[in-house]
Parts: sequence; structure tokens; C-alpha cells
Amino acid sequence: MFKAGIIGAMELEVEELKKEMTLSAVVKKARMDFFEGTLNNVPVVIVRCGIGKVNAALCVQILVDEFKVSHIINTGVAGSLNARLDIGDILVSKDALHHDMDVTIFGYQPGEVPQMGFQAFEADTRLTALAMEACRKVNPDIHVMSGRVVSGDQFISSKEIKDRLITQFRGDCAEMEGAAIAHGAYLNSVPFVIIRAISDKADDSAEMDYPAFEAAAARHSAALVKEMIQGILP
Ligand code: ADE
Repeated sequence: MFKAGIIGAMELEVEELKKEMTLSAVVKKARMDFFEGTLNNVPVVIVRCGIGKVNAALCVQILVDEFKVSHIINTGVAGSLNARLDIGDILVSKDALHHDMDVTIFGYQPGEVPQMGFQAFEADTRLTALAMEACRKVNPDIHVMSGRVVSGDQFISSKEIKDRLITQFRGDCAEMEGAAIAHGAYLNSVPFVIIRAISDKADDSAEMDYPAFEAAAARHSAALVKEMIQGILP
């Protein structure tokens, strides 16, 4: 059966969607509240996982084991690593990787989880296309592109680190959960997509910009998910 798990790291990222859903149950697990019901008549479970990759990975496993989700959507905000992505724009994942995984000393690519055989987790092409299409429809004035999400347990706010994430990984945006969600989805053979609205430029201005643009960016990403869910049933 089709059921989408919708994950946001922060309450801001899921509160709009929770308001719009028809709720059937709230289940607590691992200190997370899982809101089960429908959104635009589509079965969903909406959850705030908390910040960082451990929270995100645990959340994915619970969504798979306890709620039997068939698809995973991650909505939220990110710092831009691409000059073509300005604050307020949206990045839809083509793939995602862990920028803080480094076993290069033993010949692995930067970001590659040893013995996986690849560097980045591929997002589901149908979900990515649906998200791009939904964005153009619901947010016609917002620039949307697909690209690479790079994730680590680190808020990126320096030009040096930003430049390294660009040269080393060709990342388009930086955030703190996407690769863990992608990794968990891959291990469980569940298709996923990450949708991130840009809240800052991941450089020395990030500290100023992030609090100012976080709320609007989170709303844009959530609006896209709400629209996208309508076309998601096979
Ligand atoms: N989320 C939003 N902006 C971010 C940044 N600059 N680094 C990591 N995560 C983010």
C-alpha cells in the first residue's frame, strides 16, 4: 500500500503540513511524535525528527518498521553551495552524500561509506520530477533546480568550509539530515526525495541570514510537498 513518510528536522518544517492533514493517530517513539493520517487524501505519516543525521536515520527506520511507509519525503531548509541558488530558491535532490564521512586514507572516495561501492545515494527520479513540477505550479516565482545535497553534523557558516564542500563534493546545498535519510531509505529499498528551500549562503553571512529567512524558506518547502503529494499516487 502507498504511504508517504514526511520528515522535517524542525517543527517549522512540518507544522504547516500537520495543520493541513486529516489526523487519525499520534504515536510516540524514540521521543518523536508520528502524526498518522491523510494529506490531500493520500496516506501519510508526518514527523519532526530533530536535528542531525542520527535523529534522521532513526526516524527513517521507525517509519519503515512501524508505519510501513512506501516512500520518504524530506522537507526543510539548507544553505546554498551553488551561486545559482539564492535565498528563497528550492533545491530538489538528485542525490545526497555524507560530507563528514572520510575514509579516503583507505582509497574510498570522499563522502563514500566504506564498502557501499558508491559515493552518493540516488534520489527516486519520479519523486524528483514530481517535486520539480509541483514547485513550478505552486511557487511559479521561485527558482527551482535539482542537484546534490551534502549533509553533515555541522552548520556550515564559513567560506573556507563552503568552498571545500563545492570543490570536493560538487554540492549544491548543505544541511544536516538529507544523506542520513537517503542512506536509511537505500538500506530499506524505499524511494526518497529531499526538498530544501535555501535559508542562507552557508558562508560568513549564514549566521545573520539563517534566522531571518528560515521560516519563509521552511514554508515554501512545505507548500511544495503539499502540492506534490496530490500527484504521488501511482
Ligand atoms: N540548514 C540551513 N542552513 C544550513 C547550513 N548553512 N549548514 C547546515 N545546515 C543548514
